[in-house]
Formats: sequence, structure tokens, C-alpha cells
Amino acid sequence: MSTTNQLNPQKSTAPEASQAAALAHVKAAELAAAQIPVASAATATLRPIAQAAVIGAGTMGGGIAMAFAAAGIPVTLIDASEDGLARGLARIRENYESSVKRGKLDPAVRDERLARIAGSLAIADVKQADIVIEAVYEDLALKQGIFRELDAHAKPGAVLATNTSGLDIDAIAAVTQRPADVVGAHFFSPAHVMRLLEVVRATHTADDVILTLMDLGRRMGKVSVLARIYPGFIGNALFRHYNREAHFLVEDGALPHEVDAALKDFGYAMGIFAVHDMAGNDVGYQTRKAQMATRPTDRRWNDLIMKLVEMGRLGQKSGKGWYRYEPGSREPLRDAELERFIVEESARLGIARRPILADEIVKRCVYGMINEGAKLLQQGIALRASDIDVVYVTGYGFPAHRGGPMYYADQIGLANVYRDVKRLHDEYGYWWKPAPLLEKLAAENGRFADL
Ligand SMILES: NC(=O)c1ccc[n+]([C@@H]2O[C@H](COP(=O)([O-])OP(=O)(O)OC[C@H]3O[C@@H](n4cnc5c(N)ncnc54)[C@H](O)[C@@H]3O)[C@@H](O)[C@H]2O)c1
Repeated sequence: MSTTNQLNPQKSTAPEASQAAALAHVKAAELAAAQIPVASAATATLRPIAQAAVIGAGTMGGGIAMAFAAAGIPVTLIDASEDGLARGLARIRENYESSVKRGKLDPAVRDERLARIAGSLAIADVKQADIVIEAVYEDLALKQGIFRELDAHAKPGAVLATNTSGLDIDAIAAVTQRPADVVGAHFFSPAHVMRLLEVVRATHTADDVILTLMDLGRRMGKVSVLARIYPGFIGNALFRHYNREAHFLVEDGALPHEVDAALKDFGYAMGIFAVHDMAGNDVGYQTRKAQMATRPTDRRWNDLIMKLVEMGRLGQKSGKGWYRYEPGSREPLRDAELERFIVEESARLGIARRPILADEIVKRCVYGMINEGAKLLQQGIALRASDIDVVYVTGYGFPAHRGGPMYYADQIGLANVYRDVKRLHDEYGYWWKPAPLLEKLAAENGRFADL
């Protein structure tokens, strides 16, 4: 059973005028995201940022250092291991080199930027920094140890930011004597390229720290969006629903190429399974393995990707994942062996596979995000619906001509979205529990944009 929407969501051939309106919305939303309500004008002064430090010279730390250099801010990149630092600095040089080779960067600019990045093995070298961004492994005890040291060495008034993807920032701030200076700075990979910066307000973060980090994002050429502490902040909180439904759809009867085709038709540049194969299916494997033992048993889970990893199907890097790849090619090709495995898995789970249309694929992937977005708005995790749109268009490849998930929902009509979410809840249970805010707006004929 499927309700039909007047706007036929799975087709990317929205009329030109409505595409233009969606693009205009995204532009306005980016500007709006910079507007942060503060308690008083007295707390709204920016702290000066002339010198920075980054802790951890890995994937993220290196990219963040490059973002500082691009903004004209000298930065000290600090790692605990000599190897880690050398590798990090070498990767930065390679990145610049490749940009110069592709004609994207002037060699003189490369030299200027390189001159702004210094390496160090001593955390005490944060003492000149007006801002420190921590980007070590995702481990709470490790990060708390770093913040204890920052508390000892950083100058008074320095902004102390963590690039954690999901640890409790309050628990990190709590080990310092200055929790008001501690904030989340969630950059996306690669950090010198991706435009999105989620600025995460912890319980005690001061207004001027938020404003300073938001403005730093702007100086780096990024779009800063404010979030509050929540599992996955804004972006990954919605992404979990998108990802989960895509995998359930595969168990229920769709094949990876069918899901990807529907998402591309909707406007995504790549389907989710092609993205997993590109990023590596083993990303997050250990974390997920650890969580599997204690997760609640009252709801449906999906572990297909774990099984792919165990079969050595890591994605492009191993020549096979959700697709197969010819040597030297990144073109995803259907793989009969994988498709057989998927059919067997459905049978093992007692699921009678059925044909699934593009309309259902798009609804299950996108409406789960909309419903979660409504929950974030209700709890004040996101300030406004358009902030969620900015996160999605700039950080998660949501088609800009659709305006972002919340704008898209307003165009479909929240009563229509709610009806489908409710139907999916009746059919699939737990994950689809309608957000009270969505239900309320649907009943009032309201829009997210008017909140
Ligand atoms: N990789 C991503 O896509 C991504 C995206 C957003 C956020 N994050 C978050 O960014 C953080 C870093 O992730 P990454 O992928 O760059 O990790 P990484 O493994 O590439 O790098 C971590 C670096 O930290 C260094 N390190 C470890 N202990 C240290 C210490 N005590 N002092 C100084 N340096 C130390 C390591 O030597 C290594 O160079 C994590 O919190 C992660 O969750 C990652």
C-alpha cells in the first residue's frame, strides 16, 4: 500500500521554478544559519583568533590544519607519535601538491599555506593558541586526558574544541576547570574540502565561544551550523535513519542497484551503497561490533554490512562490496554472487522478498530523516528547520534542488508526510514512531518553515 503524493517524490524532474525556489531556499538558509540568538549583547563579542593548534595529525587533524592555513591563521599540528606527525605533515604536502598539479592552487599560495603549518610533538605547544581543536582517536578517556592537559597549558580564554563524532562533550568539558570554553567542532572528511562545520553547544559552552567558532568556520570558507549535544548531532542523527532504511529495503526485496538508482533519480549524485563501497564498508565495524552485544532486542536491526566485511567485501579497495569493480575502475557493477547472498539472507531471516518500487525506496529513506528532523526541532537540538537543510545539502549530498529534507517535506505537505510515516509505523514499528511535532503540524496544516 502506498499513498500517492501530488509531487511524485521519486522523480527528479521537478519543474524549473520549484527547483529555483529550492536553491534560493538553500542560499537563504546558509545565511540564516549564522544568526545565533544570544543571552545578551555583552556576550556576543568574538574572541580574537590569530593563532591555532590542532591535536592529532590524522585524517581529520591534517585537514583541519589545512583549513586554518587557508583562512590565513598559523597553526601548530601536534601529535603524540613521531610517525603520526610525519605521516600527517606528508599527507598535507601531498594534498597541496595534487591541487597544484590539477591547476587548482597557485604554487605561491601553496608555499604560504605550508609556511603557516608547524608540527610539534609537545602538547605544551598549545600555549600561544587562541583556539585548539582536538582530533585524536574517538575514545572518551583519551580525549579527557588531552583536555586535562589543555586545561593546564592553554592560555586563559582559548577556545577548546573537540572534533568528536559522537562522544559526550559535557563529559569532556567536565575534566577541565573551564567548561564554558569547551565546544564541539564537528568537521567533515576531508576537512579542508567539505563545507559543513557543525558547531556543538555543550551544556556550559559560553555564547561568545559559539559565535567565535561559527565565525571561524566562515573565515575557513565553511558554513557553520549550530547543534546541541545529541547522538550524531544533526547530520548523523538523520543519516542513521537514511542508512538503516536503505539496508532494510535490501532485506525486504530491493537490490543495492535498485536502491541506488531510486536515490540518484531523486537527485543524489551517488546512491548509498556506492557511497559505502567508496568509503569502505569496514568504517565503523569495530564500534558497531562492540555495540551489537548490548543493543535492545525489541526492534529490528540489520547487520548485512558487517557480513560483507567478514566476507572481505570492503568496497572499491577490495574490488568488491555491494558491487564488483573491474581492476582500476570505480564503476559499480552488479554482482550475482552478492545478490545471491542477499536473497539467502532474506530467506534466513524469514523475510518474503517482494518487488519494491522507487517511490517506496525514496519515502523510506527520506521520510525517516524528516521524522527525525522533527524530533531534533522539538528538542531544540537544531535551531531551525532550515539549519537541518543546510547540514544535509552541504554535508550529506542531499540534492540542493530539493532544498533539503525539511524544505522538501514542506513542499510535499506535512499531512502527506505524516500519513506515510504513520503507515510505516503501523507496518514496521519502532523506528517509525511519528515525531509529535510532525503530527501536530500535520493536523494544523503547518510547515516546518513557519516554526
Ligand atoms: N574520519 C572521519 O571521517 C571523521 C569525521 C568527523 C569526525 N571525526 C572524528 O575526528 C577524530 C579523529 O579522527 P581521524 O579519522 O582523523 O583519526 P586518525 O586515526 O586518522 O588520527 C588520529 C591521530 O591522533 C593521534 N593521537 C592519538 N593519541 C594522541 C595523543 N595522545 N596526542 C596527540 N595525538 C594523538 C594519532 O597518532 C593519529 O595521528 C575522531 O574523534 C573522529 O571520530 C572523524
